[in-house]
Amino acid sequence: MRHIKLDPFPVNFLWGSASAAYQVEGAYKEDGKGLSVWDTFARKPGTTFKDTNGDVAVDHYHLFKEDVKLMAEQGLKAYRFSIAWSRIFPNGKGKLNQARLDFYSQLIDELLKYNIEPIVTIYHWDLPQALQDEYSGWESRNIIEDFTHYAKVLFDAFSGRVRYWVSLNEQNVFITHGYLLGTHPPAVRDSKRMFAANHIANLANASVIKAFKKGGYSGKIGPSFNYGPAYAFDSNPLNVLAKIDTEELMSYFWLDVYATGKYPRTVLKQLEKLDLAPAITEDDQKLLLEGTPDFIGLNYYQTATVEKSTNDSFSKELKMNNSGKKGTSKELEIPRISKFVKNPYLEQTNWDWTIDPVGIRIALRTIESRYQLPVLITENGLGEYDKLENKKIHDPYRIEYLKRHLQEIQEAISDGVNVLGYCTWSYTDLLSWLNGYQKRYGFVYVDRDEASERTLKRYKKDSFYWYKKVIETNGGFLNEQEEK
Ligand code: BG6
Repeated sequence: MRHIKLDPFPVNFLWGSASAAYQVEGAYKEDGKGLSVWDTFARKPGTTFKDTNGDVAVDHYHLFKEDVKLMAEQGLKAYRFSIAWSRIFPNGKGKLNQARLDFYSQLIDELLKYNIEPIVTIYHWDLPQALQDEYSGWESRNIIEDFTHYAKVLFDAFSGRVRYWVSLNEQNVFITHGYLLGTHPPAVRDSKRMFAANHIANLANASVIKAFKKGGYSGKIGPSFNYGPAYAFDSNPLNVLAKIDTEELMSYFWLDVYATGKYPRTVLKQLEKLDLAPAITEDDQKLLLEGTPDFIGLNYYQTATVEKSTNDSFSKELKMNNSGKKGTSKELEIPRISKFVKNPYLEQTNWDWTIDPVGIRIALRTIESRYQLPVLITENGLGEYDKLENKKIHDPYRIEYLKRHLQEIQEAISDGVNVLGYCTWSYTDLLSWLNGYQKRYGFVYVDRDEASERTLKRYKKDSFYWYKKVIETNGGFLNEQEEK
C-alpha cells in the first residue's frame, strides 16, 4: 500500500546499535575467561579470511568506556551487546565466579549513566569449548540445563538494570553453518545431525524464556532471527511454489517454533520421509509451547529470489564470497526445493549481499500477519570497505543504505506493525566472523586490519553524524532530507 501520510516513529523508539562479544571484546583469555568454540575454530588455518581471529578484536574489553562515551555523544538510546558465556563460566557450567560478571556489570552501568538502554544477547555463537568437548555442545540435551542455568545467573545479576534480553542470536545461522555447511564450529556437514542439534537449540531457547517468565523478572525476552524473505523469480506457479517451500524450510521452520511452539507440518513431514526429522517427545512439545517470546528480534540484511529446483542433490562446491571480490559467490540450490537466482531489480554489495530496503518492510509485515508479535530490529546494516583519509571517513553508501531501510520501517509502522526499536549492525567496526576486518559495518571506524592491530584508535564516520541527527529528530530527519 501507499500511504498518504506516514506515522511518526513511536515516542520511546529504541534508536540503537549492536555488537557481539567475540567480534569486539578481545581479551580472549583475560581474567579467567575460558576458550570458546570460536577461539579454537579460528585458530585452524584456512577457516577464516586471512586467518583472522578475535583474540584482540577491537579491544572493547579495555576500551568500553571510550566506546560508550561515543554512543552518548551520538545520542544512542539503546545498545545491544552479547555476553561471552565462557567469561562467566570458563567451563560453561559449575561454580559461578561473581567477579567475572563485573565487566558486564560495569558496561551496563556505564550505559545507564547515559540513559542508553542495554539490550543483552545471552548467546551469540561463542559456546564454551569445554561444553563442546564434554558432550558435543548443541548435540546434547545436557546443554538445555547448562544454558538455562547460565541465563538465570544473568537474569539474577542484571534484571532491573536490563529490560530487553535476546535469548539466542540467529539459531538458523549458527546451526546451518555449524552442522550443514561446515563453515562455523563445530564444522560438521551432516543434515541429520543438523536437525537434531537444531531441535535441542529450540528446547534450550524455550527453556530460557520459560525460566525468565517463571522467575518473574521484569522486562521482555525473545530470540533474534536472521530473516530474509524469499521472492518467486516470476509468476510461474512452480516458482511461486519454490518460494513457499523456501520460506517454510528456511524461515518458518524456526519462526513458527519460536512464536507458536509448533513446527510447520509440511517441513516436518518431508523430514520424516527423508529420515531427517528430530525426535520430538511430548515433554518437548510442552516446553516449546511454554517458551514463546515477548517479541521477535529481527536481523535483516537481504532477501532471496528463487525459482524451481531441477537438481536432486547438493552441488559439491559451496562458494561464499568472504573476500569482498564482487561476483565470486556461487548461487545456492536446495535440491528439489529451489534455486537461488539474482533479482534483476536489486543491486548487490561487494560481498554479493542483495540490497533490498523494501524487503525489511516485507519481513516486518510477514511477522505481523503470521504472529502478531512486536518486533525489535536487532540488526541491519551494510558491510563495506571504508577508507580513512585525513582522519575522516566518508561513507555515503552506508547512510543511503540505512536511510532507505529506515524509511521502509516507517512505512511498516504506518502499515500497523509494532516495531520496538532499531539496532544498526554495528556500532564500531568489528571482526566479521569469516570476512576479517575489511568488511566494515560501524558508525565508528577502528584503526586496525587483518595484518596488524595498529593503533585501535576510534574515528567517527560521516554516518555517525547522520544517525545522530536521525535520533535527535526521532526519525524526522529521514523525511526532511527527502524533501530537499
Ligand atoms: C549476523 C550476525 O549474521 O550478521 C553478526 O549476527 C554478523 O554477528 C552479521 O557479523 C554480518 O555478517 P558478516 O558475515 O558480514 O559478519
